[in-house]
Amino acid sequence: MEPMKTVRTAVVLLVLLAAAGLAFIYSGLYNVAADEEHSGFVRWVLHTTQSKSVHRRAEQVVVPDWVAKPSPAALRTGFIHYQEMCATCHGAPGVPISEIGQGLNPAPPELSGHAEDPDESFWIIKHGIKMTGMPGFGVTHDDEEIWAIVAFLQAMPKMTQEDYKKMVAEVWTESPVI
Ligand code: HEC
Repeated sequence: MEPMKTVRTAVVLLVLLAAAGLAFIYSGLYNVAADEEHSGFVRWVLHTTQSKSVHRRAEQVVVPDWVAKPSPAALRTGFIHYQEMCATCHGAPGVPISEIGQGLNPAPPELSGHAEDPDESFWIIKHGIKMTGMPGFGVTHDDEEIWAIVAFLQAMPKMTQEDYKKMVAEVWTESPVI
């Protein structure tokens, strides 16, 4: 084919593709219902985009030394924030994921079983994840508080249901208004 003809064919194809995409969006055919599973392809696109994006940005995050060995006060701060803001969606030892969390798509993972890399957790908690239910807590919390939550996440897999229950009872009977 002559070069000009090839270019013209490519342009026509691109215009047709764009028109088909627009027609699909405007038709309302795509089902946005959260209670319907994503197709395998959409799930792959979303998941891969998310994990690559977080991985790339978390490389810039420097983990403070104390996060590996947090003080009891830092752990307590992390725990209070976790119980108040995260357990609803992610559950905790002996605390099932709530009705809010169960209705989300993508589903929030249980975080009590294993801890992610601290730099990735920090980035996700601070910035949140678009188009999932995961909020960005950097809007309302400083880095010190977010690192305390990360330190708590690292400690949580070693906690039993009894440990967690005891912490809830201690904190909320000592100081019911936080
Ligand atoms: C309203 C529900 C909701 C709340 C509240 C919430 N999250 Fe999330 N979280 C999500 C969802 C949804 C995802 C993304 C799941 C996915 O993309 O598969 C997520 C993802 C995460 C991840 C990444 C997990 C992984 O395996 O990749 C971490 C870590 C996390 N949240 C921590 C927290 C912490 C800590 C808090 C509290 C400060 C919190 N979340 C509050 C819904 C929530």
